[in-house]
Amino acid sequence: MNSQPKLRILFSRQEIEAAVSRLAAEIRQDYHDKCPLLIGILKGSFMFLADLIRHLDFPLEVDFIGLSSYGKGERTSGKIKLVKPLGSSVKGREVLVIEDIVDTGLTTAFCLDYLQQRKPASLKLCVLTDKPSRRRVPVTIDYLGFTAPNKFLVGYGLDMNQKFRNLPDICFIEEEEQC
Ligand code: PRP
Repeated sequence: MNSQPKLRILFSRQEIEAAVSRLAAEIRQDYHDKCPLLIGILKGSFMFLADLIRHLDFPLEVDFIGLSSYGKGERTSGKIKLVKPLGSSVKGREVLVIEDIVDTGLTTAFCLDYLQQRKPASLKLCVLTDKPSRRRVPVTIDYLGFTAPNKFLVGYGLDMNQKFRNLPDICFIEEEEQC
């Protein structure tokens, strides 16, 4: 069936902008003289990373890694696929990973482990939205925007079957009432 799901705003574009600005101020304080390498986890982080770096007025570099585990479903497959390798070397770099959401933690844990093996000088994690109730593996978040309830979220980079990434707000899908 192709019916349009009902969407409700969880975090509005104004709330997102305030959170991004606050996170940028925290990151600026810690990294302004370190020329960090910011690594966005694709695809979900593209919008967050793009907005975040517009607030960072000091030298930095950007790269992306493509990881995927959800495929077409709403549940993680549990297996993380490397769909786009990193372009840069992280050895000796001050690395800050930028992620849109931590749910089970499997994607982020995989990414941090993958990067740690490549010997960065430091490795930290910045996440826009955390869903701690869903965690399957522990993840330490150094910079956090929002804590969200256990709802399926879309918008601001987050997808459902690759759709809805373009929504400017973070929304949840309202459950249909059973009749
Ligand atoms: C989503 C999201 C995170 C990950 C979080 O990515 O962007 O990277 O899931 O879930 P987890 O904590 O349970 O691992 P997805 O695998 O859907 O790929 P995408 O970024 O291309 O949408």
